[in-house]
Amino acid sequence: MTDVAGRPFRRLLLTGASGGLGRVLRPYLRGLCDTLRASDLVAPPDAGAGEECIGCDVGDRPAVMDLVRGVDAIAHFGGESVENTFDRILHANLLGTFNVYEAARRHGVKRIVYASSGQVTGFYPTDVVVDPSMPVRPSSLYGVSKAFGENLSRLFFDRYGIETVCLRIAMAFPEPTTHRMLRSYLSYRDLCELVHRGLVAPGVGHAIVYGVSANRDLLWRNPDAARIGWTPRDSSEPFRAGVEARQPVPDPDDVQNRFHGGRFTQDGPFEDRAT
Ligand SMILES: NC(=O)c1ccc[n+]([C@@H]2O[C@H](COP(=O)([O-])OP(=O)(O)OC[C@H]3O[C@@H](n4cnc5c(N)ncnc54)[C@H](O)[C@@H]3O)[C@@H](O)[C@H]2O)c1
Repeated sequence: MTDVAGRPFRRLLLTGASGGLGRVLRPYLRGLCDTLRASDLVAPPDAGAGEECIGCDVGDRPAVMDLVRGVDAIAHFGGESVENTFDRILHANLLGTFNVYEAARRHGVKRIVYASSGQVTGFYPTDVVVDPSMPVRPSSLYGVSKAFGENLSRLFFDRYGIETVCLRIAMAFPEPTTHRMLRSYLSYRDLCELVHRGLVAPGVGHAIVYGVSANRDLLWRNPDAARIGWTPRDSSEPFRAGVEARQPVPDPDDVQNRFHGGRFTQDGPFEDRAT
């Protein structure tokens, strides 16, 4: 797949390109390909050189079939990124992720990096260190939808040989601002390198990697990180003193601290979110 300029891909697709992480990944991924197809619900503005910006609702199957045509690999970051009504989660995350995989199958795309979430195992208590071999315990409907995407990607690997690296992203933001984030922080640099490895590492088959920097007191073991050749370079430690000075010591019984998923585990009773 390497082109004459030494870039690993001719054309990459990034969904969710206008989102918080999409805006970080867009310039980085542009450097990995001749053409970056950047997509979101509304076409991202300001297409630069070597970019195609396309508006596409991933829940719209015919539109996704067109979106995926001609790409070598996909970074799938579009969809509902927090808890929401079941109908919205159903459309964007379940139907949307199915459409992306089905389009990949029809168009012969063989590698996907899928933005899953640490919320797939969010209902584990924080005194349990979790790894990807353990049963899922989703924190929320959102977490259930991410577990669906992981299982779907497993099926598409076992049946069709489409390789996926599922990223159980913990908390990727410019910097950690709470005690919880000191454990869960994923720096943008580590995120970009993680997506990069997920796209290019040879023979990954189906992998699940927790997206978290090299923080103290980690809640996860991450055997597949080495398998895809990713080692986080950053840590939340430089931010610790600031967070601890600004924030009171957390109550260990507070839901924020009892479960991996923090407040996602309590975020709205389902009956309030039926529509
Ligand atoms: N930021 C984090 O710490 C974090 C943690 C865990 C998982 N993730 C996952 O990473 C991905 C990106 O997260 P983010 O923080 O950038 O979220 P975000 O909400 O900022 O971005 C998501 C993007 O998806 C787009 N989108 C929503 N519904 C869509 C649809 N039906 N069709 C096409 N596009 C649609 C939105 O317009 C938005 O631009 C999400 O899948 C999220 O679940 C993020």
